[in-house]
Amino acid sequence: MAAYNIIDHEYDVVVVGAGGAGLRATFGMVQHGLKTACITKVFPTRSHTVAAQGGVGAALGNMAEDNWVWHMYDTVKGSDWLGDQDAIEYMCREAIPAVHELEHYGVPFSRTPEGKIYQRPFGGHMRNFGEAPVQRACAAADRTGHAILHTLYQQSLKHKAEFFVEYFALDLMMDPDGSCRGVVALDMATGTIHRFKAHQTVMATGGYGRAYFSCTSAHTCTGDGNAMVSRAGLPLQDMEFVQFHPTGVYGAGVLITEGARGEGGYLTNSSGDRFMERYAPTAKDLASRDVVSRAMTMEIREGRGVGDENDHIFLHLEHLGAEVLHQRLPGITESAKVFAGVDATKDPIPVLPTVHYNMGGIPTNYMAEAIRPQPGNPDAVVPGLMAIGEAASVSVHGANRLGTNSLLDLVVFGRAAALRAKDLIKKGMSHRPLSKDAADLALSRLERLRNANGSLTTAQIRKNMQRTMQSDAAVFRTSKTLKEGYDKMSEIAASLKDIKVTDRSLIFNTDLIEALELENLMACALSTIAGGEARHESRGAHAHEDFPNRDDENWMKHTLAWVSNDWKVKLDYRPVHTYTLTNDVKYIPPKARVY
Ligand code: FUM
Repeated sequence: MAAYNIIDHEYDVVVVGAGGAGLRATFGMVQHGLKTACITKVFPTRSHTVAAQGGVGAALGNMAEDNWVWHMYDTVKGSDWLGDQDAIEYMCREAIPAVHELEHYGVPFSRTPEGKIYQRPFGGHMRNFGEAPVQRACAAADRTGHAILHTLYQQSLKHKAEFFVEYFALDLMMDPDGSCRGVVALDMATGTIHRFKAHQTVMATGGYGRAYFSCTSAHTCTGDGNAMVSRAGLPLQDMEFVQFHPTGVYGAGVLITEGARGEGGYLTNSSGDRFMERYAPTAKDLASRDVVSRAMTMEIREGRGVGDENDHIFLHLEHLGAEVLHQRLPGITESAKVFAGVDATKDPIPVLPTVHYNMGGIPTNYMAEAIRPQPGNPDAVVPGLMAIGEAASVSVHGANRLGTNSLLDLVVFGRAAALRAKDLIKKGMSHRPLSKDAADLALSRLERLRNANGSLTTAQIRKNMQRTMQSDAAVFRTSKTLKEGYDKMSEIAASLKDIKVTDRSLIFNTDLIEALELENLMACALSTIAGGEARHESRGAHAHEDFPNRDDENWMKHTLAWVSNDWKVKLDYRPVHTYTLTNDVKYIPPKARVY
C-alpha cells in the first residue's frame, strides 16, 4: 500500500454529518462538556436538511386542540405498524419541548396573528385518533429546513463546536471486540488522511435517495454512513421501505411541499377529477404519502394521467391566490416557475411521485445507540456507535414516514444522542490505543479505487444502478420485478470490479469521491431490493402486487440485511417493539389503515 500522510485526533465524540441531526447532536454534545468533532463532506449549511420545506411536526395545539398522543397514534398508523412504539412515544412527546427549544434557539417560524408558531395541516396528521385533519406542522413559510439548519449551525458556532469541513468519511474503525473506536476520513482539500478516535461515533449522514434516477434528494445523499456500517459487518434495517413523495415536479424531481396541499391545494387527473376523494374519503389529498403516491400511480396506469403522454398529474394551487402563495409558499411558487415553467398563481403544476426518503437505515434504540442483534438479545447495542436522522432506523417511521416527522426525528434524536453520550462518557475518560491496522479497511479501499483502471466510468455504473432501482423497486413492485431487479443489481455491483478512476490524486479528486460514493450507494441499493424481494406482503411504502395485503402474523418484523464484500446480501429479522416506553400510553394494536 502507498504511504499515506495520517493525522491522528482524539475526541470524546465524533459526529459524521452536519445536517439537522448532526448539528443538533454536535452542539448538544459540546453543551454537555464533551470534546466533539463534526466532520462533513459539504459545508454544514449545504446539507440536505436545507431542502426540507413544509414543517416540523409537534402537537402544540396553536391552531386548534391537539395532543401528542394523537400524534403518536397517527405516526404508528402512518408506519403501518412497523414502527417501534417505545421510540414513537418518545418522539411525539419530546416534539413539543424540542420545537419550543428550536424557537428559543432562533428559528424564524411563521406566526399566527397572536404571535404563536403557525401550524398547517399535513398528510396523515389527524385529530382525535383519525377523525379529521389537524394543523400540526410548525412552519417557517415553505423553507422550514433552511431555517432550522441555519439556526442549528449558528448554535453550533456559538457553542464552539469543532468542524472538519469537506472531509469525506471513509470507514469506521472497529475493535476486534466489536466496539466502534472512531472513523477514518479524507480531507478532500489537502489529501491528508485523518483518524478520529472517539468514545462515541455518531452517524448522521442522511439517506441514499441518489440510488434512484429521480429523487428529491441532493446529490450528496449517497448513504455513506449506512455503507460504512455495512462494511463493518453490521446489519441495515428495513431498507425495502423507500418513500415516494407524491409531488415532485414532473421531469425534474424537485420537491413541491405537501404543505401546498395542507394550504388547500389538490390533485386532479385528465378528466379534472379530484380523484383522492375516491381513495381516501376522509383525508382526501391529505392522506398518508404512500396512499397518495399509489393513487396517483393507479390513475396514470389506468390512462387518466395528464400531459401529452398521460404520464403525470396536476397539482392545483391557482385558487389559493397570489397573496397566500407569496406568504406561505414562496419557495415552491419559485420552483414551479424555474423547474416546470408554470406560474402557480394561474396554472396547475405537473407532478409525479418521486423518491424522497429512506425509512430504513442503521438500526438503533430510542437513545440513538446502534444495534447488532445477538442470539437471545435482538436489541444488543454496538458499544461506541450511534446513528441519527435519515441514516438511522429508530424505528419511528416503520414502513412509511409521515410528513414533518423527518425534521422532528432530526432534532429529537440528535438531542437524545447528546443526552445518552453525556451519561456514557465520563469526564477525562482515556482512549485505549488503536490497533495497528485500525485504518486498513479505509485505506485499502481508497488504494483500490484510486488505482482502478477498468473500462467503465463511475457515471456508467451509477446510471445502470439508478435505472434499475427506478424500474424494479418502484411505487408498485412484483415478485418478477424484484427478482429481476436483484439479479440485475448483483451484476451491476459485480461490474464495479471494472470501474475506471482517471485521476490518482487525493487532492480535490471528484472522480475518486464519486466512485467511493457509488460503492456506498450500491450497498444500499442491493439491500433495498433484497429486502423487498423477500417481504411477501404489502405494508406502507412496500406495495407488492403479488401480496396486496398486510400480513401481521408473518411479517410484522424488521428486516435486517448484511451486505458482504462480494455484494451478496444475507437477510434476517428482528421483532418490532410492541410496547410503549411509559405507562402514560398503551400499545396501539394493528388495525386496518384507512384515511
Ligand atoms: O412535503 C414536504 O414539505 C416534506 C416534508 C417531509 O418530508 O417531512
